[in-house]
Amino acid sequence: MKRMRAGIIGVGNISGIYLKNLTTVFSDRVELVGCADLVAERAATTVSEYGLKRAYASVDEMLADDSIELIVNLTIPNAHYQVCADAVAAGKHVYVEKPLCIELDESERLLAAADKRGVRVGGAPDTFLGAGIQTCRKLIDDGWIGKPIAATAFMTCHGHESWHPAPEFYYKKGGGPMFDMGPYYLTALVNLIGPVATVSGSTRVTFPERTITSEPLNGTRVTVDVPTHVVGTLDFTSGAVATIVTSFDVWAANLPRIEIYGTEGSLSVPDPNTFGGPVKILRAGQKEWSAMPLSHAYAENSRGLGVAEMADAIANKRDHRASGALTGHVLEIMHGIHIAADSGSRYTMKSAGVQPQLLPQQF
Ligand SMILES: NC(=O)c1ccc[n+]([C@@H]2O[C@H](COP(=O)([O-])OP(=O)(O)OC[C@H]3O[C@@H](n4cnc5c(N)ncnc54)[C@H](O)[C@@H]3O)[C@@H](O)[C@H]2O)c1
Repeated sequence: MKRMRAGIIGVGNISGIYLKNLTTVFSDRVELVGCADLVAERAATTVSEYGLKRAYASVDEMLADDSIELIVNLTIPNAHYQVCADAVAAGKHVYVEKPLCIELDESERLLAAADKRGVRVGGAPDTFLGAGIQTCRKLIDDGWIGKPIAATAFMTCHGHESWHPAPEFYYKKGGGPMFDMGPYYLTALVNLIGPVATVSGSTRVTFPERTITSEPLNGTRVTVDVPTHVVGTLDFTSGAVATIVTSFDVWAANLPRIEIYGTEGSLSVPDPNTFGGPVKILRAGQKEWSAMPLSHAYAENSRGLGVAEMADAIANKRDHRASGALTGHVLEIMHGIHIAADSGSRYTMKSAGVQPQLLPQQF
């Protein structure tokens, strides 16, 4: 198969696992040519560390390289839209880390521009393509729990100021627990149940000010500008209903990550921020949960799988799974929950969304 020539823009914390996987496990589908970063030396160091062909002096220089077909955008959320829009304008496919964009209208503009230019947009998370959640999807498709009727999803913690070296952004616009972790949970739910039709929400700020206790900013106070306990209910087009709680306000909880309830049984879904298991099922009439073997590959940290699958889909002229339509739908659900909470009324989704196909077991 002809490999897709790709370049990474933004070589910070998360880039290491992409560089590792794209130059090893996924190098049959993607040829990683080089890197660019606002800090040019960072790109140069990375290129020599991974033995890549080219360190670009700037983002513009990479976008002007006609041989690059696909941009992997690993910049910070605030820069996602502009870097993606510039890549699309340069005629390149683009895959972006989560979230797709900050604002809803940015994602609509980006997807429309890509359609017009005839290029693809894809985006993280790609954990839903991993062994754990693909196994869950196969079990549902094969009828093990009957028809999904409901789901719960919980991500609770007490925020990140006790360990993260620069945690302020979690409490500013674009931050908060839903925009930070919601993409993993909501992408998994849409993959397992299908698109969402309407949402409602309730939010609160419990601690209007937080004190950083990690180094080097120990003692610094942060004003909290966004809701830190976000509760949503989702009505899927299939008729299923789900509850999602994401919180930075909870000290401890005994809650599952995700459970799917069907007419014939219940499915315990693994942490959607990981690629592996465990997957457990309890079918009507049984008393105990049973651990299920994983039916798919990629149980280890396989970030970059979505990029490889997108390259494969483009080469084979089929739809890719970690698509702009999916990640745009997830962004709209997150905004919808906050809009519904602010307005006190249900939010009707504008995007139709898409439920990706099950990944072939041999991919
Ligand atoms: N760090 C994690 O554990 C993690 C996990 C999952 C997802 N993510 C996502 O990955 C993305 C990157 O996160 P990170 O932690 O690696 O951030 P980071 O700040 O460590 O790295 C971002 C890099 O992008 C560069 N950059 C920023 N704006 C740019 C621009 N306009 N043009 C070119 N380069 C630019 C920066 O110089 C930096 O090198 C974010 O979207 C985040 O949500 C991060």
